[in-house]
Amino acid sequence: MAFTIGYFVGSLATGSINRTLSKALIRLAPEELEFTEIPIKDLPLYSYDYDADFPPEGRALKEAIEASDGILFVSPEYNRSIPGALKNAIDWGSRPWGTNSFARKPTGIIGASPGGIGTAVMQSSMRSVLSFLDAPQLNAPEAYITFKPEVFGDDGEVTDESTAQFLRHYMEEYSAFVQRVLAVTAPGHI
Ligand code: FNR
Repeated sequence: MAFTIGYFVGSLATGSINRTLSKALIRLAPEELEFTEIPIKDLPLYSYDYDADFPPEGRALKEAIEASDGILFVSPEYNRSIPGALKNAIDWGSRPWGTNSFARKPTGIIGASPGGIGTAVMQSSMRSVLSFLDAPQLNAPEAYITFKPEVFGDDGEVTDESTAQFLRHYMEEYSAFVQRVLAVTAPGHI
């Protein structure tokens, strides 16, 4: 059986190390997971003025989240928090009030930074946001990736076996978590 995973890359940068990490995760993920990126770069800045008539980008985002069995966030840390573009996308997905698209969606959070903290503070912020949005989260393993360019090829190939093993294990645990949540929220699906 296949499970659809909508993934967010929290960086808009052309040379994003987190986009590279997302490619590595897709390569290493178990075969039952099918990935579709949920794009964020063309979303206007959210305001509740849009609630009466969501623009096509906002509607497409909500539909993509709702069509996914699980959501994966692959994001940098900006100034010890969630990048604005990603937070904006989450705000779009959470509204209009009463139509929060993240509710009961199993989520995973992972990110890479050149620094040693490896996006830990961003991930902590994300956990508060996702708790408020009633989105179950993979609690363990945690994955704080210190990005070393010599370990990751541009297409997501991972040259260091212990890093590959860690990321493979993370994705196996994420897949098992998604299936555990679906067994409760969508029992007919499993
Ligand atoms: C950063 N960077 C950064 N790194 C970190 O570990 N903690 C932080 O709080 C910040 N803050 C921060 C703010 C802003 C505005 C920028 C542009 C950068 C560095 C960041 O980890 C580095 O630029 C990564 O390459 C960003 O990931 P992407 O965009 O390449 O995926």
